Amino acid sequence: MSYSEKVDLLLKKGILVTPDILKKEFSTRKELSKSEEETPGKIKIVYNYDKPSKKRVVDDFVSLFNIRFKNLEKIIRQRSEMQNLVSINKLNLKNEKEIVSIIGIITKKWQTKNGHTMLFLEDISGSVNVLVNKNNKAVYELAKDLVQDEVIGVCGGVGKNIVFSNEIIFPDIPLSNELKKAPEESYAVFISDIHIGSKVFLKKNFKKFLSWLNGNLGSENQRLIAKKTKYLFLVGDLVEGVGVYPNQEENLDIPDIKEQYKQLANLLKTISSNKKIIICPGNHDSGRIAEPQPPLYNDFAKSLWDLSNTIIISNPSVVNIGSSENFSGLDVLLYHGYSLIYYANNVESIRVQGGQKRVDLLMKFLLQKRHLAPSHESNMYVPDAEEDPLFIDKIPDVFVTGHIHRASASQYRGVTLLNTSCWVDITEDQEKRGLEPQPARAITLNLQTRKVKIINFYG
Ligand SMILES: [Fe+2]
Repeated sequence: MSYSEKVDLLLKKGILVTPDILKKEFSTRKELSKSEEETPGKIKIVYNYDKPSKKRVVDDFVSLFNIRFKNLEKIIRQRSEMQNLVSINKLNLKNEKEIVSIIGIITKKWQTKNGHTMLFLEDISGSVNVLVNKNNKAVYELAKDLVQDEVIGVCGGVGKNIVFSNEIIFPDIPLSNELKKAPEESYAVFISDIHIGSKVFLKKNFKKFLSWLNGNLGSENQRLIAKKTKYLFLVGDLVEGVGVYPNQEENLDIPDIKEQYKQLANLLKTISSNKKIIICPGNHDSGRIAEPQPPLYNDFAKSLWDLSNTIIISNPSVVNIGSSENFSGLDVLLYHGYSLIYYANNVESIRVQGGQKRVDLLMKFLLQKRHLAPSHESNMYVPDAEEDPLFIDKIPDVFVTGHIHRASASQYRGVTLLNTSCWVDITEDQEKRGLEPQPARAITLNLQTRKVKIINFYG
């Protein structure tokens, strides 16, 4: 629209034309219609673990491992490389050097005297040694990152009580997995590790974040994102907790866990009730630490349950957001991320590339294994004899973790990988341990373009 057309239009409306009015009326900023701003986002809970606690027995561990194996085997056996699949107890019927495929769980891994890698692989029928020759560089490098208890496929030649591996197959995400985009522009915001109750909680910065989310802070574009935000994800460690580690009381500002949740609820209730707040627990929250963690208990976190726009679910969990008549929505997998630190320390290629500072690699690693804690040692867990809640069954569109206190965004085969920042200040102890947290960042995801922006509220 030309300058004179703008003036004409204002005059027609009976508005006195001044430079300020012109700027206000024809700002390039895209204003939202009231109805667009106020329409709450659609949300469906896809997976939430809320079974009541019960006594577990040794057999439950066996059942869980059998379920885990069957789930992962089902994915791997669909791969074209698995066409010569045999069960391990049938290997002795094969001719020497015949090419076979097997699927098994790694129960042992070691280096031979000659520097090759040896795996002890078990399936439901039996077990066998698998040799990964050091001269087969690509497979040998891959084998360095294999962890105890993960389920893999192996293609290779048959030997006497041994398979010589040519290829190693992970359950993984198919290359064909598509990047889904919502037809309308709306946003989801991701944060975690608020640790309310800690002496180093960044209250001033958190209030700045809320002020932005409420449309009172930030650049024009950032305010527009805030307005169009329909979902806020809090991925665990909402409060610092009480008795999480020895002498924790020395580091607490609020020594009562209910009061910690109450203070968080007081902050969250300033957010428009049209924005849905999705909450899962972390290892500092009330309730059991062993995974899966059920939703926060009402008696401890009543103040959060009482807010009209909170959706309180388990860790891990899956929710579907942004669906409409013509769009099936995006599935968001939430996992607080307790197991990440184990893999930062134990997966060689990730360790040498920065360990915890490479959350992108850690999250990709878990997706490739289609499991949130492939090694028995990497988390504390409750063995469910009927299902494996940490198995990544359906491929998510967005996978979000926290716990590491660093903000990270990446993509792997159509899946957006987000690791959320924290709202506690950097401590001397963390600096000494070389952890380099990145506090007070909010991650925003445009559901229409799948573009991610990280907004920094630190400093
Ligand atoms: Fe944590």
